[in-house]
Amino acid sequence: MTFEYAPAPESRAIVDIKSKYGHFIDGKFLPGKKHFATINPATEEVLSQISLGGASDVDKAVAAAQKAYTKTWSKLSGKERGKYLYRIARILQERAREFAVLETLDNGKPIRETRDIDIPLVAAHFFYHAGWADKLDYAGLGKSPTPHGVAGQIIPWNFPLLMLAWKVAPALATGNTVVLKPAETTSLTALLFAEVCQQAELPDGVVNIVTGDGSTGAAIVNHPGIHKIAFTGSTEVGKKIARAISGTNKKATLELGGKGANIVFDDAPIDETVEGIVNGIFFNQGHVCCAGSRLILQEGIADELIAKLKIRMSKIRVGDPLDKNTDLGAINSREQLSKIQELATAGDAEGAERWSPACTLSAKGFWFAPTIFTGVTQAHRIAREEIFGPVLSVLTFRTPQEAIEKANNTPFGLSAGVWSEKGSRILWATQQLRAGVIWANTFNKFDPASPFGGYKESGWGREGGKHGLAAYLKEGK
Ligand code: NAI
Ligand code: MG
Repeated sequence: MTFEYAPAPESRAIVDIKSKYGHFIDGKFLPGKKHFATINPATEEVLSQISLGGASDVDKAVAAAQKAYTKTWSKLSGKERGKYLYRIARILQERAREFAVLETLDNGKPIRETRDIDIPLVAAHFFYHAGWADKLDYAGLGKSPTPHGVAGQIIPWNFPLLMLAWKVAPALATGNTVVLKPAETTSLTALLFAEVCQQAELPDGVVNIVTGDGSTGAAIVNHPGIHKIAFTGSTEVGKKIARAISGTNKKATLELGGKGANIVFDDAPIDETVEGIVNGIFFNQGHVCCAGSRLILQEGIADELIAKLKIRMSKIRVGDPLDKNTDLGAINSREQLSKIQELATAGDAEGAERWSPACTLSAKGFWFAPTIFTGVTQAHRIAREEIFGPVLSVLTFRTPQEAIEKANNTPFGLSAGVWSEKGSRILWATQQLRAGVIWANTFNKFDPASPFGGYKESGWGREGGKHGLAAYLKEGK
């Protein structure tokens, strides 16, 4: 007997999407000149028209941020700044459902994730940093560390509001003002956040949001009035930013790509591990920089584990992101879908074996079934390149040393996972893995108190925790 899930769609009546948006500069919405559409990737429905920011918009935003920094924000005590952050955090909690529905519509990720993960974490980041605002003298960064001034922040589309929170909360807590640019496919929750800034009566110009594409991002990076850059996105753009700011006084944190190794030893608790593997790669459609996209399995348990993984994957519900039963939503854009398809086809061509459970995908919108490739070797592109989709590459190993060598054999170094019942083995493995974040017997766990960032081509610096504050401060004497 099988039980079917009846549809349980979340209502979209709570959100009020305007037909057109401008930029949020100096506390007000200013009309843009050129516009582009933002769509719901699950249906291809046009949701709104977003302004394409140019150099003059960036100029205005930087001027507003500099004025707010000099006249208001740098004059407030940490305790006063903290009050605004607490206020923002509480409003975000009050309006959580609205944000969750809007994020799901614009991004394509399941409502279960926006409601239970993204938005609660967003509020948590503001609460956490609100608590730091008046304690910076005790953060181990010297006496009275000082802010940089105006921070330019550029964020991606995979966790739109959460990446905004990762950037805005520490910047404001440490006394910087910001000019932020959301990703072109997912600007709507950032624009709703602008309304929250107004509602919280945050002084004008402390947060400025300029929407647009890569050219808008580049205008922020190259603007002489920007003192610190925080970027999350592709390694390719990260490298461009690093080149653009070399020889300037601009500070930067870059949070880039990954190809996380999820290592499973033969003594791992198998059912929990299967659950963790699924969470590691199919959470957020695999659009996760720290995804466990390379499964590195000890040979003796490989067959049994893959068999169980396939049974579990057949239970993943792919479909309407607004349905509360949905596990895997839409791929964020047509471009991202083509990239996933291209890499999966390369996997076939290079001789790996592809498997997906039977699932019906809607003809409208952008979809990709949960997929695993077995028989992957180190040389395959699907073992080396970031796919950024629901695609798992499976490799095997015989000795623990071989597992570490395979895991570290990547230009990236963002995340890793280790599954074993033996504590000493976990400690041994984690000490040798070159990854910024390592989970043991779990995966994709996030907390504002925990620093996050990578080695090698995964980026520069850390975000979150005490380490994340340092990036927004000049050390005090
Ligand atoms: P992207 O790096 O082009 O976009 C990220 C942000 O940077 C967006 O806001 C974009 O408008 C901006 N941007 C683009 N060019 C810029 C420039 N020259 N200067 C300043 N800002 C610029 O990433 P994209 O094209 O959306 O995705 C491509 C691939 O990158 C994905 O397939 C994935 O592999 C990876 N990626 C990784 C992310 C991560 O969290 N590490 C997030 C997004 C993408
Ligand atoms: Mg969209």
